[in-house]
Order: sequence, then C-alpha cells, then structure tokens
Amino acid sequence: MESKSKNIKSVSVVGGAGHIGLPLSCYLQNCGYEVLIIDNNKKAITSLKKGITTFHEEGLNKNLNSALKKGMKTSDNLEKIKNSNYVFVTIGTSSKKESILFFESLMDDILEKISEESFLILRSTVTIEDIEKITKNELFKNKKIKLAYCPERIAEGEAFKELVILPQIVGVEDPEIFNEISDFFKQLKIESIPTSIKNAVFIKLFSNAYRHANFSLANEFYNIANKNNIEYSEVVEIAKKDYPRLKNLPLTGYVGGPCLPKDLETFIKTFGVENSLLNRLEEVNDGYLDSIVKNCNNIFKSKKIIQLGLSFKNNSDDIRGSGSIVLYTKLIESGFEVYAVDPCVNADNLPFEIYDYENIQNETNNILIAVSHDIFKEYKMDNKSVLYAEI
Ligand SMILES: NC(=O)c1ccc[n+]([C@@H]2O[C@H](COP(=O)([O-])OP(=O)(O)OC[C@H]3O[C@@H](n4cnc5c(N)ncnc54)[C@H](O)[C@@H]3O)[C@@H](O)[C@H]2O)c1
Repeated sequence: MESKSKNIKSVSVVGGAGHIGLPLSCYLQNCGYEVLIIDNNKKAITSLKKGITTFHEEGLNKNLNSALKKGMKTSDNLEKIKNSNYVFVTIGTSSKKESILFFESLMDDILEKISEESFLILRSTVTIEDIEKITKNELFKNKKIKLAYCPERIAEGEAFKELVILPQIVGVEDPEIFNEISDFFKQLKIESIPTSIKNAVFIKLFSNAYRHANFSLANEFYNIANKNNIEYSEVVEIAKKDYPRLKNLPLTGYVGGPCLPKDLETFIKTFGVENSLLNRLEEVNDGYLDSIVKNCNNIFKSKKIIQLGLSFKNNSDDIRGSGSIVLYTKLIESGFEVYAVDPCVNADNLPFEIYDYENIQNETNNILIAVSHDIFKEYKMDNKSVLYAEI
C-alpha cells in the first residue's frame, strides 16, 4: 500500500511560499521534519531556492537559510504530496466566490494525489462548508484521510515568536486523530487544544471579528468626537489617567490587512449574521478615513501633502487590505496632491508613483504620518506641520 512507503517525518506544505506557509515550513524543517514546500508561484520558488525571501517577516532570512541547509525542498508539482505523511494547506482563502471555487478545486486535486491514511491539516482560514465538501468527497473516505483544522493565529511579522508560544487549536471529529496531531505538535514544543471542527472554525473567525469590532469601536468614538469638534487624543489621555477600566481601550487606526476585514466578512456569511453591530463595522472604518481627510482639510494650509506610509501596519511591507492606501485614494479624490513615501513597500506592487522623502521633502510642509514605520523617526520634520492618522 502507498501509505507504507511514506516517510513519517515528511511534510508537504501546499502554499508554502506564502506569508503563513513559509515561516511554518522553515520552522518544521528546523525542528527535524523533512519539508517539501509546494507552491504554484514559480518566481517565489526560484527565489526561495536561492535563499532569497519575497516578503518581510522578522527572522525569516535566517530561518530560511538554516532550513535550506537542513534539506528543505521546494516544488511547484502537487503530485509530490503523495510522498508525505502530513499535508498542510496554507493557500490564501476568502469568502469571495472565485476564491471558494479555487479552494474546492485544489482540495479535489489534493484528495486525488494524497496517499492513503495521510494527515490533511488545513491551516488556511476555512468555513464549515469548505470542510463538508472535503469530507463528502469519496476519495476522502476511501483513502481514510485524517483531517484536522489547525487555524493559524499568529500576527504577521511575529511568526517565529508566536509559532512556539501560541497553543494550537486542533479541530477534529475523532479523538484518535487529535492524539496523533497533538504528538506532531509536541515535537515542535507546541501545546494542542482539542475541539470540534465546527468550534475551530468559529474560534478562528470570531477571534478576528472580535478584534475588528474592538478596533472599530475606538474609531467610532474618534468619529463622534471629530464630528463634535472634540480633540479625541486629548479626551482619551484625560479619561485613561489612573483609570484602570479604560486601560484596554485600543488606539484608533486602520482595520485592514490580509485577515481582519476578510475574516469578519466570512464570519458574517458563515454564521448568518444580520442586523448586528458587526454588519456596520466596515462603514465605521470608512467613516474613520473620512475623518482623517477632514482633519487634513482643517489642519493643512494647502492641498499638497506628503503621506508617509502605505502598508497595512507599521514596519510591514504588506499592502494587502491596506487602509493607508484607501486613505491615499480618498485624499486624491478630495483634491489633494499627494506625495506618497514608503521605503518598506515594493513600488512595483503599487498602481501609483512613490517617492524618496529626501527628494520631495521641500515640496510642502504638510506631513501626514499614515503608518508609523520606525524609519520615519529618522526623517527631518522640523518646522513641518505633522498629522498622525493613527492615535
Ligand atoms: N497573513 C496572515 O497574517 C494570516 C494570519 C492567519 C491566517 N491567515 C490565513 O492563512 C492563509 C494564507 O494566507 P497568506 O497570508 O499566507 O497568503 P499568501 O497569499 O501570502 O500565501 C498563499 C500562498 O499559496 C500559494 N498558492 C495559491 N494557490 C496555490 C495552488 N493551487 N497550489 C500551490 N500553491 C498555491 C500562493 O502562491 C502563495 O504563495 C489564508 O487563509 C489566510 O486567511 C493569514
């Protein structure tokens, strides 16, 4: 039987060149597993083979080079999963129709190619429907595939810290499978928490929907203060002084990135959320960006601005779901001439020009710090009028 010839230490990571798959792959290889990254992004695969990373993640270069030295392999050929005992799936997912269909068709391919009695570990964010489609596939039953949903909960940029310290939620329908998966994670010094697949889906999506709501609520208070000509940062400082019950009030800012808006949308669709506060959160955040544009109009003496920062959060190169890019567009639409500056992001990924601060710093005194990258602290801004988009 195929399963007998498999190497029990062998792990395939489908989508392994991505933000979630690559740190996981390196970590597994460096902990003694034999990892094969499978990814259809040929450019990324070529680059990884040379030890060159394609996005920023703290410690990734070092971990990639160590994993390659220890024998981590890469391929764009899905067939090769047949040699692995564990198949992780870390491809990008969302609740958009094309993304759902894409995921379904990939899972059909995986079930065709995976060998009998392998573990299929879903790490991409999925829904209950996605999982039902897998378990209803004849091949799933015939091949006795051992399925687990092990959602990824790390914060981008913190992968190598959080992979070790966050407990792993393991959604399974069979306690035997939990025991085996929990042994797998034990080798990595990761604690496992058992639950049902349905609970695991709820936990992953609800956690991000909750975080979204938490940040959005702060933005809503900002919007209300702004509408009433009250300086929000001032009232918050006074309100929080020696007042422990407000210590968890989040900063205001964008609620963007590759996860929060997408997971909120998936949560709403998956659990039939209607007429709830959750349905209004995107509107609140859009209003927050409008408040920033209004402040630019009030504070700056001309319609020329230097916008510092375009990524979805500070010190990141990731522009997926970036609120600061939406802000840039809103500023242009309201008649501003915007010089965007962001040395962290790749200019090739943007549909508009970005500038070096040195070259355009004398164009205007109006500076909008849209994202607080550490590097901006080195910029000369004496005598400039500076507005922070996140407070
Ligand atoms: N980025 C985060 O901070 C984060 C956090 C938690 C969970 N997640 C979830 O993890 C999943 C992956 O997110 P990501 O940010 O790593 O996405 P990503 O786009 O960075 O990575 C996905 C990878 O999958 C590859 N891929 C796509 N189709 C493929 C196919 N048919 N065969 C092989 N490879 C394929 C892509 O080339 C890419 O390298 C998503 O479900 C996301 O919601 C992401």
